[in-house]
Amino acid sequence: MAHIIIHGGAGRIDKDREEAGNKIIEKILDEITEVMRDKNLTAIDIVEKAVNMMEDEEMFNAGYGSVLNYDGAAEMDASIMADDGSFGSVASIYSVKNPVSVARKVMEETDHLILNGKGAVDFARVMGFSEFTRLPEGRKKRWKELRKCLDKNETAQGELRYWKKLKHFSNDYYKDREKYGTVGAVCMDITGKIAAATSTGGIWLKLYGRVGDTPIMGAGTYASMYGGASATGHGEAIIKQFLTKRAVELMKDYPAPEALEKAVEEATEKGCSCGLIGVDKCGNAGYAFNTTSMWYGSRKI
Ligand code: GLY
Repeated sequence: MAHIIIHGGAGRIDKDREEAGNKIIEKILDEITEVMRDKNLTAIDIVEKAVNMMEDEEMFNAGYGSVLNYDGAAEMDASIMADDGSFGSVASIYSVKNPVSVARKVMEETDHLILNGKGAVDFARVMGFSEFTRLPEGRKKRWKELRKCLDKNETAQGELRYWKKLKHFSNDYYKDREKYGTVGAVCMDITGKIAAATSTGGIWLKLYGRVGDTPIMGAGTYASMYGGASATGHGEAIIKQFLTKRAVELMKDYPAPEALEKAVEEATEKGCSCGLIGVDKCGNAGYAFNTTSMWYGSRKI
């Protein structure tokens, strides 16, 4: 038996977008089910491919669809982890199409766990990842709207509610510089190996250089012999909870659906806005979230 669960981010998603996103999730799951039948591919290959497919969709906040930082640039975080403890991530990476694949290279080709910023971009080029800077028009338009809200001090708008101190940063502060939902996948393959991967553009109007939960082992992504988990939501709060590590720890004693519910309950008590997906060592998949909605879906073969 093999089982995969994927998410396309949690938050307040309006009805039309929710239906459109759900269709994409189903299409990706149909394709990935075929990939899961290939006995040469492991859980790591499968979660990487699933996250790549979501990174290529404008609908989701990762890769091409990343939300933009304060400067209007896409600055992305991604990570990947296997149940043997192998881990790789990239933080604040830019100008690449599929950050999770660079994270895999960090895991497999370096002695490090995390590469960030220009170092991550230069490493990606050495590894053969070409420059990719295209931004969706819809993201540029929303960036302009949110910057106007910020200028008018309307910081209760959407994800701007997380940035209570952002208004201290004026255009002047940034003028000399050339210039950040989430997606994830957790899989148990047919041999019983487990892997998890997560990729994100972060949160609208984050400061240049901000690192969220996604590239932090045990915060946005975690896997062990007990299971794997991927998180979405408010990165700063997720890091404080070490949310995926806590969820997988709970899988020692509970099947994934209950473990994830408990982890999200604990997070809710601490005011952490989040969603989780995961698979346990018996191949049970589950999800939990305390936001209005979350795009997710699973397949078993
Ligand atoms: N969970 C995505 C972020 O806060 O960066």
